Amino acid sequence: MKVGINSLFSLDKKVAVVTGAARGNGRSIAEGFLQSGATVYFIDILKKTLMSVKNDVKNNKARFITADITDFSLIRKVMENIYNREGRIDVLVNNAAITLPESSDTYTDNKWEKTYLLDLKTPFKLSQLVNRYMRRKSGGVIINITSLGSELGFSNNPAYVAFKGGLKQLTKALAKDWARYGIRVNNLGLGYFRTEMTRKSWADKSQRRKRTERIMLGRWGESSDLVGPAIFLASEASKYITGQDLYVDGGWLANGI
Ligand SMILES: NC(=O)c1ccc[n+]([C@@H]2O[C@H](COP(=O)([O-])OP(=O)(O)OC[C@H]3O[C@@H](n4cnc5c(N)ncnc54)[C@H](O)[C@@H]3O)[C@@H](O)[C@H]2O)c1
Repeated sequence: MKVGINSLFSLDKKVAVVTGAARGNGRSIAEGFLQSGATVYFIDILKKTLMSVKNDVKNNKARFITADITDFSLIRKVMENIYNREGRIDVLVNNAAITLPESSDTYTDNKWEKTYLLDLKTPFKLSQLVNRYMRRKSGGVIINITSLGSELGFSNNPAYVAFKGGLKQLTKALAKDWARYGIRVNNLGLGYFRTEMTRKSWADKSQRRKRTERIMLGRWGESSDLVGPAIFLASEASKYITGQDLYVDGGWLANGI
């Protein structure tokens, strides 16, 4: 059977929701989806930053919502409003996350709980919320943004490593439970990207060099490097893929000595 390449990667007529889309990786993914023809909801807690993205993007398929996605009664209403307005939700990208480094010896409950709430519980709650809309339309796609920390130990960051590892496994659980509704769930796992999250390690020359040396392709990722892989996972091009990890890491994980 012949399949048109353009339609394979098209998100035309699809409605996508991307969390943490005011900057960094989430913004790039959301803008990539717009280019692929989707109506895209950019959701973020940072109102001012989100409004400046709105001014830059100028696309009539872009929608902007300021919300704290850890406020579950608010986000339930947000999702309901999106569904009522658009009649569908096809793609959810669980991108928003935080990292709160501190020694494991003294790691505080407060940091542990904050990281758990945003990095693991919220992606689960959001996935449950979109599930009920996706299954009405015979399916959808959930993409969870995972990390090298989902696979490997990194020092002085126990909560981030624990919950990104948990998110990786949650993806597999949901892929299994929701395949019957036509919902595919995959991980987009990231290596080192230059964003606000990694500002400190980029600014420290020795840390930057150490990380760069491990990357086969010899450079940190730019958020735009995620556009192709994210469109692939969101579109028909990956229609027989679920429960998988796609690492966009310049070869970090595959690197031996
Ligand atoms: N930068 C990297 O090297 C790297 C590596 C691995 C994984 N990641 C993952 O990439 C994703 C995006 O991170 P980034 O690097 O772009 O960092 P970032 O800090 O620039 O982006 C996170 C975004 O999430 C938003 N956000 C935070 N709390 C929120 C809340 N309660 N409600 C709504 N929005 C909220 C922030 O305002 C911000 O816009 C995260 O899942 C992160 O773990 C990043």
